[in-house]
Amino acid sequence: MSGLKIATIGGGSSYTPELVEGFIRRYEELPITELWLVDVEEGREKLRITGALAERMVEEAGLPIKVHTTLDRREALAGADFVTTQFRVGSLDARALDERIPLKHGVIGQETNGPGGLMKGLRTIPVLLSIIEDMEELCPDAWLINFTNPAGMVTEAVYRHTNWRRFVGLCNVPVGMQMGTAAMLDVAPDRVHIDFAGLNHMVFGLHIYLDGREVTTEVVDKLASGESGMTMRNIVDLGWDPDFLRALGVLPCPYHRYYYKTKQMLEREQQEAEEEGTRAEVVQQLEHELFELYQDTELREKPEQLSQRGGAYYSDAACSLINSIYNDKRDIQPVNTKNNGAISGIDPGSAVEVSSVITKDGPRPITVGELPVAVQGLVQQIKSFERVAAEAAVSGSYEKALLAMTINPLVQSDELAKTILDEMLDAHRAYLPRFTHPAPAAE
Ligand code: G6P
Repeated sequence: MSGLKIATIGGGSSYTPELVEGFIRRYEELPITELWLVDVEEGREKLRITGALAERMVEEAGLPIKVHTTLDRREALAGADFVTTQFRVGSLDARALDERIPLKHGVIGQETNGPGGLMKGLRTIPVLLSIIEDMEELCPDAWLINFTNPAGMVTEAVYRHTNWRRFVGLCNVPVGMQMGTAAMLDVAPDRVHIDFAGLNHMVFGLHIYLDGREVTTEVVDKLASGESGMTMRNIVDLGWDPDFLRALGVLPCPYHRYYYKTKQMLEREQQEAEEEGTRAEVVQQLEHELFELYQDTELREKPEQLSQRGGAYYSDAACSLINSIYNDKRDIQPVNTKNNGAISGIDPGSAVEVSSVITKDGPRPITVGELPVAVQGLVQQIKSFERVAAEAAVSGSYEKALLAMTINPLVQSDELAKTILDEMLDAHRAYLPRFTHPAPAAE
């Protein structure tokens, strides 16, 4: 079999060196001959820099991987075996608006949760669907591995609004939870196994095993006693109320803080916005520094500073997944895929984030059954939100967008939802061609 062609959309992302490192490490099992990094005109300079660094990394490793950079997505997609997506519509400026506008109204301002998550979904889903249209024509047998956020909403949109099935949504949160658990137990991460179930950025560790022995209670207890380490770079570790956590009895993900500690998280966000800036603003500075480093022609590997980003270990998850699909490994990995009955009570056609067996035909979600009653309701509510949000993104319907904004548990009232939505639709107008604005209902 000839070598593999990979196309990475959003190739000018600062995360690209991680991905390249992951491919280099797995070259023996994953014989990539072509890596195509694609970006849009606004990302031309970043693409040039990541492309040159990728070339140096491959050269240093002595591997025959040819790195191409292009602004022509179709050229990159033609005949690809795997397509990965890591783009950000409207770049970090749009993310800063997603964070600042809700905060102004006393609501959590976050990239993938609450109003910010909705707006990011509305901007991203149409672009992702247009990539799929191109893939249907240019690489119909390829797998699409998506890390573009909001990954849950995007996966929902693909499964419900396209016929494309070779799609997997990926997130680094489960990997982060596994590593955090291993650190708490003071063991190597590969000795820990977690049964994951829920939705993207709303996933729970239902059962935790160390060398095959269940240690869920022990881990929850440690976390409840204030052991840290279980968070991501982008989410402040405010700990958990110990009694609450023990009563919950399962491992929450770092994003659950926005739901279980809304007040404290909001206060912290407001304080940060005033002092060092919102997360997007902090990341803008970090990115600036990273790209300075990437331009150093002596640099031939992924710099350590990249681990300051919340998405660290993404590439590990992505490369392991591609490896397992390509080699039909049938190992277990947590992914965003179609529920197919794995979690009772969630529509079989909906996207869930769940431990799955990874085969050459894609993920086979492992049956979970019912989620614990304490978490069922929140998961269902977010699923309703994601479904309505995906419909809004596809249709450009103002009413659907308003419905999604209002039923989101982080938004406290219908009037507030409308105020925030109108302001955000206006602010993001350039990236929302499907929405006419001002919306007819608002006139
Ligand atoms: C987390 C999430 C990712 C997200 C990232 C943001 O790890 O799982 O989905 O992209 O954080 O990190 P950043 O450094 O951009 O704030």
